[in-house]
Amino acid sequence: MSQASLPHILLIDDEPSVCSALSRALLHTSPQHPVAMAASVTVAHSTRSAMELILSAEAEPNRQQSRQRDRQQGPEAALARLDGRTLDGPRHYPYDLLMVDMCLGQESGLDLLRMLKQRSCGSGPDGASLPDGENAQAQAESFEGIGLMLLTGRATAEQMAQAVRLGVDDLLLKPVTLRTLREAVARCHARLLQRRSQIGQLREFADELLSLRERSNLAARSYAALQSAVLEALLGALSVREPGSMEHSVRVQTYTSFFARMLNYPETLRPQLEHAALLHDIGKIGLSDQLLFRPDALAPAELERMHPHSLLGEQILGRIGFLRPAALIVRHHHEHYNGRGYPDGLAGEDIPLGSRIFAMMDALDALTTDRPYRPASAYREARAEILRCAGEQFDPHLCECFGRIPAETWQQIRIQVAQRLRALDPIGGSGAQVGAHSGFSSAKLPSGTRG
Ligand SMILES: [Fe+2]
Ligand SMILES: [Fe+2]
Repeated sequence: MSQASLPHILLIDDEPSVCSALSRALLHTSPQHPVAMAASVTVAHSTRSAMELILSAEAEPNRQQSRQRDRQQGPEAALARLDGRTLDGPRHYPYDLLMVDMCLGQESGLDLLRMLKQRSCGSGPDGASLPDGENAQAQAESFEGIGLMLLTGRATAEQMAQAVRLGVDDLLLKPVTLRTLREAVARCHARLLQRRSQIGQLREFADELLSLRERSNLAARSYAALQSAVLEALLGALSVREPGSMEHSVRVQTYTSFFARMLNYPETLRPQLEHAALLHDIGKIGLSDQLLFRPDALAPAELERMHPHSLLGEQILGRIGFLRPAALIVRHHHEHYNGRGYPDGLAGEDIPLGSRIFAMMDALDALTTDRPYRPASAYREARAEILRCAGEQFDPHLCECFGRIPAETWQQIRIQVAQRLRALDPIGGSGAQVGAHSGFSSAKLPSGTRG
C-alpha cells in the first residue's frame, strides 16, 4: 500500500500518554510491516481543540455559502451534496478517520460526534437550525465520507446503541494491541473507501438523473410553446376571417373553464375542453361571406347552411395531434339534448359531456353580445333563457348547476376577459366587435340566431 492511499487520522483523547502511544503505533513501520497504518496522525485532547482543528482543516472556505446556495437550488443540489460535495466539485475531506475516545474528561466522545454531525449538516450558515425535513435529510447524509472509530475501556449497552445511531464504524476496546489496531484501521479505511466509491456512483447517477430531467423539462417547455403557437395561429386565422371572433372565443373558453370547475369536470380532461371551447368556431373559416357577414337574421333554410362548420371544425382540429380529443367536442357542439340538433341528432348523454357543457357557454355569450340584427340581452335575461331551454336544447342536470350561479358572476368574468385582452392588445383587442356568431339555433330562441 502506498503512502498516498493511507488514511489521515484525527486522534482525539484527553490522555497525552495514550495519544502519544497510539500515534507512534499508527505511524510505526518495521521489517514485517514496512508500511505505516496512517499517512498522518493529528492529535487533539479535547472536544474544543478537535472542533478547532476540523474547522481550520476544512479547505473549502465557501462551504457554508455553497450549502446555503444548495438549499436555494432545491432537491437537485441536495442530491449533489450526498457525500458533502457541492455541485462545483468534490468535497475535500480534512481527515479520513476520526479516532475518538469515549471519555474526554467531563465530556463524552459521543457528544463530540454528535456536535460534529450537527455542525456538519444540521445547522444553517449562522448556526440556525434547518427545517425539520431538511435537517433529517442532512443528518442521514452526515459523515458518510469519514470513518468513525470509537475508543473505550468499557461501554454500556446504551452507549453502544448511541454509537451505532451516530454511524460509528468500529469500536476499539482498550488496551489496544498493535495487531488489533492495525486490523481495525485497515477494516475501517477499506469500508470508508468502499462507501466513498458508492457515494461517487450515486453522485454520477444523480448527475445523470438531473441531466435527464433538464432535457425532459426542456422538451416539455418546447412542446407547450409549440401548442400555444398552434392555438394562436388557428385563432388568428379565424380572427382574420371573422373579425371580433377572438373576443367571443376567449370569453367562451373562460366561461367553460369556470363552469367545468364548478361541475368538478375531471382536471385531466379540462385542457381538451378548453381547447374545444377556444376553437369551436374554427370551421367557420369555410363558410361563405354571404352567410358569415349577413347583417340580418338568417332564415331557417339559411341557418342549415351554417351546419357544416361543426364538421369542418372537427376535421381541422382532428389533423393536429394534441387537438384530436377536442375535435369530437367541436363536432357535437350544436347537438340538442332532445335530439333535434346537428350534425348527428344525438340526444341526452349520448352527446359528449364536454359538448353539453360548452354549448351552454357558447349560447350565454351569443345572447349577451350585440348583433347587427338584435341588441345584447342582459345577463339575467340570458341566464333565464338558457334555463328555459333545460331538457330541450340543454342538459337539465347541467342547467341545475348553472342556475345556482348568479348572473353577476358571468358578467364579472366578461369584464375580466375584456381587461385581459386589452392588456394583451391595447390597440385592437377589446375594441374589436364580436362578429356574427353562432352558438344557438333553438326554435325557442330568437329566430335567425346563427349556429
Ligand atoms: Fe360560438
Ligand atoms: Fe358553432
